[in-house]
Amino acid sequence: MSVTVVVGTQWGDEGKAKVIDLLAASHQIVARYQGGHNAGHTVVIGDQKYALQLTPSGVFYDTVTPVIGNGVVVDLPTLFKEIDALESRGISTARLKVSSLAHLIFPWHQAMDAAQEAARGDLKIGTTLKGIGPAYVDKVKRAGIRVGEVLDIRVFEQRVRERAVAARREVSDVGGDTFDVEEVVSAFIAYAKRLSPYVADTVNLLHDARERGDNILLEGAQATFLDIDHGTYPYVTSSNPIAGGAAIGSGLGPRHIDRIVGITKAYTTRVGMGPFPSELTDALGEALVDIGREYGTVTGRRRRTGWLDTVMLRHATRVNSLTEIALTKLDVLDTFDEVKVCTGYSMNGTVMRNYPDRPDMLAHAVPVYETLPGWKSSTEGITKFADLPHSAQQIVKIVERETGIPVSMVGTGPSRDAMVVR
Ligand code: GDP
Ligand code: IMO
Ligand code: MG
Repeated sequence: MSVTVVVGTQWGDEGKAKVIDLLAASHQIVARYQGGHNAGHTVVIGDQKYALQLTPSGVFYDTVTPVIGNGVVVDLPTLFKEIDALESRGISTARLKVSSLAHLIFPWHQAMDAAQEAARGDLKIGTTLKGIGPAYVDKVKRAGIRVGEVLDIRVFEQRVRERAVAARREVSDVGGDTFDVEEVVSAFIAYAKRLSPYVADTVNLLHDARERGDNILLEGAQATFLDIDHGTYPYVTSSNPIAGGAAIGSGLGPRHIDRIVGITKAYTTRVGMGPFPSELTDALGEALVDIGREYGTVTGRRRRTGWLDTVMLRHATRVNSLTEIALTKLDVLDTFDEVKVCTGYSMNGTVMRNYPDRPDMLAHAVPVYETLPGWKSSTEGITKFADLPHSAQQIVKIVERETGIPVSMVGTGPSRDAMVVR
């Protein structure tokens, strides 16, 4: 009986899904706790690659019950497209449970997202345009429609129509694309009927499972520095990806959580706008994009790249109470002449080790690097720490030294078994 949280420690796409897929073998439940279809979680099994946006990454095991927790915002067209795609590839989604307390995303949320981004001009956030922010706004202003409401289809129809009429006005007020209210209502009646069998009281389900002795894995989407409170505001998402969010978004209590695994890429990437102290805008940055295939799973956008930043990582260790780190994509650094790790920020002649709380300070932080010679040999598929080249081992040791916690896994390739487990 244990509860494990998997959380991103940078700006997302650290390889959370690969680690979750690996850990899922010893868990009976894998539950998403926040975010929505802005996430793109890639699992590679043999020669098959799966990109999941809403379905928990434990879906590939028939011993696992995948749960979409109360903290998630659910886009039904995407969910059903994903279910159909998985089923057509022989993956059963019959065990999936969707929390009755989770909020639904509607077309007006996407229209609002697009209109707000357009209005921001040069100051746009670079959202995924999936309607995530506007859906959480509706939740917080107590105007949202929840999953459980689909169980009474007549009341649901009324609620959707009422909200649609009001939302159409709100969207057109900000110059957004309007929509046909009755078309949306009838589409969502069909979605609601299809959703009904998946709807569950997931809060009690998780507690009952835990009391029975099941192992539960709570799957984070996005990451620490995209967190609405602790990230690089306003260039963040609208939920709490940090480990504390796992309690809120699943209904398990903070004291039930035993293990918190921070997923860290051996370098750093970011999609969308916002500060990025260790960013590389030169040929080295290009090389990281090419070798690491750093293009967004959801939007196809080129990710910004830079060196690993342990100032951020120390902060992520603190705010998430990490118990360990999984360092992924180390193999992407195989061909570099030298590899750098940022271990401090220089500001006006002093070196800061604590991550600054002020955006203006972050914007002016000059990274202080520790430089290692490149190892110039392939680490792809290595599974034993002792088989990693010396400099590659050094990076792992720097991370442990800077954070004070163990690196329990090291990723050496996209596939399930390309991993050093220590
Ligand atoms: P997530 O959003 O954190 O689950 O990460 P994504 O799936 O968006 O992006 C991570 C990408 O890196 C995916 O394409 C994975 O298949 C791939 N990946 C994960 N771990 C490793 C690794 O150790 N090495 C390499 N080369 N690729 C990896
Ligand atoms: P996974 O789970 C990387 C980024 C967007 C944008 C900001 C706000 O795959 O790591 P939103 O649509 O959420 O309002 O966009 O957050 N973003 C992600 N970046 N990985 C993700 O998910 C992301 N989800 C959102 O690019 O900068
Ligand atoms: Mg991703």
